[in-house]
Amino acid sequence: MSTIIVTGGAGFIGGNFVHYHLKEHPEDRIVCIDKLTYAGNLSTLASVMNNPNFRFVKLDICDREGIFKLFEEEKPDVVINFAAESHVDRSIEDPGIFLQTNIMGTATMMDACREYGNIRYHQVSTDEVYGDLPLDRPDLFFTETTPIHTSSPYSSSKAGADLLVMAYFRTYGLPVTISRCSNNYGPYHFPEKLIPLMIANCLNDKPLPVYGEGKNVRDWLYVEDHCKAIDLIVRNGSVGEVYNVGGHNEMANIDIVKLIIKELGKDESLITYVTDRKGHDLRYAIDPTKIHNELGWLPETKFADGIKKTIKWYLDNRSWWEEIISGEYQKYYDKMYGDSNNGDYL
Ligand SMILES: NC(=O)c1ccc[n+]([C@@H]2O[C@H](COP(=O)([O-])OP(=O)(O)OC[C@H]3O[C@@H](n4cnc5c(N)ncnc54)[C@H](O)[C@@H]3O)[C@@H](O)[C@H]2O)c1
Repeated sequence: MSTIIVTGGAGFIGGNFVHYHLKEHPEDRIVCIDKLTYAGNLSTLASVMNNPNFRFVKLDICDREGIFKLFEEEKPDVVINFAAESHVDRSIEDPGIFLQTNIMGTATMMDACREYGNIRYHQVSTDEVYGDLPLDRPDLFFTETTPIHTSSPYSSSKAGADLLVMAYFRTYGLPVTISRCSNNYGPYHFPEKLIPLMIANCLNDKPLPVYGEGKNVRDWLYVEDHCKAIDLIVRNGSVGEVYNVGGHNEMANIDIVKLIIKELGKDESLITYVTDRKGHDLRYAIDPTKIHNELGWLPETKFADGIKKTIKWYLDNRSWWEEIISGEYQKYYDKMYGDSNNGDYL
């Protein structure tokens, strides 16, 4: 039995990972740390709160004293760091907290790993550290050796953290790995991100705000496939290595929006084009050859099935997302898509 510290487990991917891991490895103990920012929802973890192999601790990964105390208590075998400020638009509004959590928080977690026995550490990173690819070169993909070339304060903070992780490997011999994944979708996804936002607005017959002309291309992966990849890397990956994770499923934003409209039987007249994001990346596309060849990972969920499962989840779990969009998030939404674009989207 291993004790695994999962940070950011009240968020989208961390929450899915907690559910996945407790199901697949019921012998392990999961200790989840989360600061519960606007993006963290304890309701995501409600069904595991009474599991004897699960503990939730409200804690900031930058709180060195609190983190060290927890390591002393729990003596973890593995740390998987999902916790991050993760929304590009918010990083453009206010970069400071991104540097604090994504870089300083990563350093704090790794310092604790060094202090308490050179603990195995996995950093959940993103394909956004590679910048973007041109729309007219479908032959180009990000590999693990593609140079870091970031566009936003968010991706820069994630890239800074990645550099620090590799430095801890080289300097201190900390047993680390990094995964860089493409865009995820699935249950428990915060409704400020493209897919859940479009599903929620469609269900409420509200306008669907699409940046620019909606031509930006993202490479979508069902969140459970990402969780499986991380689990494999932590168990069988080589320390000091980076693994790209992606499913070769590139789609333009506008095509995703149209697909959701069709699945929900709504009308395309709901689409409203809004001013493009500053520095908006054009195309992301991952080459996952390394994780396939070395660890045998392949995505299992086709997009056509994954999007249906996701829409069903949002239909079956209305209270989860309705609570979120009725609260503090409303003010942010009005600022981003309302005032500046003369719209009234919720
Ligand atoms: N969502 C994607 O498509 C995607 C793709 C590739 C990589 N990633 C990476 O995966 C990780 C998880 O992303 P997500 O989409 O689940 O994010 P999210 O915003 O849904 O969740 C982040 C969680 O971290 C918590 N958190 C934030 N600051 C914290 C702090 N200082 N201390 C403790 N907890 C804190 C939040 O409360 C929240 O629960 C991130 O590191 C992100 O960069 C995300």
